[in-house]
Amino acid sequence: MIIAVDGPTASGKGTIARALAAHFGLPHLDTGLLYRAVGRQVFLDGGDPDDPADALAATAFPDALLADPHLRDEDTGGLASRVSIHPVVRQALFERQRTFATRPGGAVLDGRDIGTVIAPEAQVKLFVTASVEARALRRWQEMHDRGAEATLEDIAANLRRRDARDMERKDAPLVAAPDALVIDTSALDRDQAIAAAIEAARTAL
Ligand code: C5P
Repeated sequence: MIIAVDGPTASGKGTIARALAAHFGLPHLDTGLLYRAVGRQVFLDGGDPDDPADALAATAFPDALLADPHLRDEDTGGLASRVSIHPVVRQALFERQRTFATRPGGAVLDGRDIGTVIAPEAQVKLFVTASVEARALRRWQEMHDRGAEATLEDIAANLRRRDARDMERKDAPLVAAPDALVIDTSALDRDQAIAAAIEAARTAL
């Protein structure tokens, strides 16, 4: 059983994917972390994220980088969305994601193109979304709890930029698979979003 969870930044897809993995006893892969590691590695190499060759070289990042707390930074998210535009980068990360998705016993993956490109055969496809305002507020709260400073306006502008880049790219753009179930979490709290996702997954199975 493959569960694909796609959606924009701060939509709640990570929380939902982790909860589904726990509920169904499946391993979980946050594929955004792979793109973040590439973005971080380009930065560490002093490379140019917009240069396909520099970005491709960074896909050989060491596994230990996946535990780097800087991967969660807003700046790294921006770099990730820039390197993820290059088809060579997406190809380089494809096999790793595909192997995880097709593990015997099943898996939960979350990202942008799981239901469309990585595992189009997934039995459960969820597209988790929320308004920019709701997502900005969540991101602000998260940053505030960590002691990081940012205004709501800056966060919202950043989200809009990331959304536009992810949706407008030619290769594997952020889009709901035609057979995905859309969950809008704008008006849902964490528990309600998880309950809606479990219910949707049960219905799809
Ligand atoms: O989900 P997260 O915010 O960690 O993803 C960071 C960036 O990585 C996204 O903005 C997107 O550009 C890219 N990404 C992608 N395909 C995925 C997962 C993430 O292009 N499957």
